[in-house]
Amino acid sequence: MRNEQKKYYIATFGCQMNVHDSEKMAGILNSNDYKEVSSAQDADVVIFNTCSIREKAEHKFFSELGRIKMLKKKKPGLKIAVAGCIAQQHGKKLLKRASFVDCVIGPQNIHQIFDTLQHADRSAVTSGGNETIAETEMPVFRKTDISALVNIMYGCNNFCSYCIVPHTRGREQSRASQSIINEIRSLAEKGYKEVTLLGQNVNSYASDLDFPELLAKINEIEGILRIRFVTSNPKDLSEKLIEVMRDSEKICEHLHLPLQSGSTKILSMMNRKYSYEKYFQKVELLRKMIPDIAITTDIIAGFPQETDDDHALTMNSLRELSFDGIYAFKFSPRKGTSAALMDGQVDQTVRAERLQEILDIQNDITELKNKKLEGTTQEILIDGIDEKDSGLYTGRTRTNKIITVPKNDNIRKGLLLNVLINQANRHSLNTIL
Ligand code: 5AD
Ligand code: SF4
Repeated sequence: MRNEQKKYYIATFGCQMNVHDSEKMAGILNSNDYKEVSSAQDADVVIFNTCSIREKAEHKFFSELGRIKMLKKKKPGLKIAVAGCIAQQHGKKLLKRASFVDCVIGPQNIHQIFDTLQHADRSAVTSGGNETIAETEMPVFRKTDISALVNIMYGCNNFCSYCIVPHTRGREQSRASQSIINEIRSLAEKGYKEVTLLGQNVNSYASDLDFPELLAKINEIEGILRIRFVTSNPKDLSEKLIEVMRDSEKICEHLHLPLQSGSTKILSMMNRKYSYEKYFQKVELLRKMIPDIAITTDIIAGFPQETDDDHALTMNSLRELSFDGIYAFKFSPRKGTSAALMDGQVDQTVRAERLQEILDIQNDITELKNKKLEGTTQEILIDGIDEKDSGLYTGRTRTNKIITVPKNDNIRKGLLLNVLINQANRHSLNTIL
């Protein structure tokens, strides 16, 4: 007789890499007779896939963990697993801190999720430096049907002084190009139209091909209409890559290029290995070679020893570079990173004030940029239904801006079409078709 299927629920925190890791854990569990459910209450197993990039992300997880403790009291058979970057960082200590956690599994060990859950013997599977992760093929269970995330590399070698990622995800390893291409071909056969290639620093992809060569190959895959990738480190952004972006019709005109600060002094303390001037020149070149490109960025406010003048340089860089959008954060010291130990930590209220100034100035810039699209025609890919209004489809422009489209008989998910932008605001564009 067949055993009853075990039910699992995954709560995912953090970046697209984590979202994709959850898709892989789901793929592995589904092929081992587990079944996903949509709430922790209905589950036999709850997996937290955690993020430790900033303190706030950690707090969010620990408060969720507190809540699950209550559930476990009611359901003593419930198994609780902690995966992701917090799992890697805290390892066994998590088991001590939370006696109700059954297992801990790091991001370089997710291929062992089934075995780990089978034993659930209060051990921590966090052997960092997994050198075979790039060769380990895992089944993937995606909940999306138009746009798919695809790993091209793992880990990071850069050791930016604030960043926990190299400590949790290990050194860079690139997947073989053929395995990436095979995966994307099979996605195309299943009807996916768009792929987003994932890596902490995609520009340092290195296998038998380099990153521009890999992109050119993916551009030839029939059925895939759009290619995106994250994240690019400015220090490794080459002219060869910009040429391939310009010449490959499926590569979208959008680049996420984290600047972090407009002050070269702070960039150097961050170990970013480029100056503001170098970054500025790269953006100029990008805009010269791909005139309609959208550029987005990340900014950190209140890095150690950041003075009012350094902050003013960041504010100025936002005016000068006119990004399409930014993600901005207060500096958050991460244990084990060198920035956490630097002298001259900036007062919390100053960090918050600087962050607010950054957000305020960028809000106006983003809105102005979007307004310029009113009255233009843009190619969009319909990829979903509006969560708030089921009478609307959602899509994205090639430049990665969200657009809402009224439903009608001719519109369906996966359709690529040209529409007139009737109205633009800060967060999205609208068309009446
Ligand atoms: N504090 C604040 N922001 C951080 N980021 C990474 N580490 C930290 C930190 N310790 C931001 C960077 C990075 C983005 C993913 O998160 O801007 O590009
Ligand atoms: Fe962190 Fe730098 Fe790696 Fe990005 S490239 S994950 S900022 S160390």
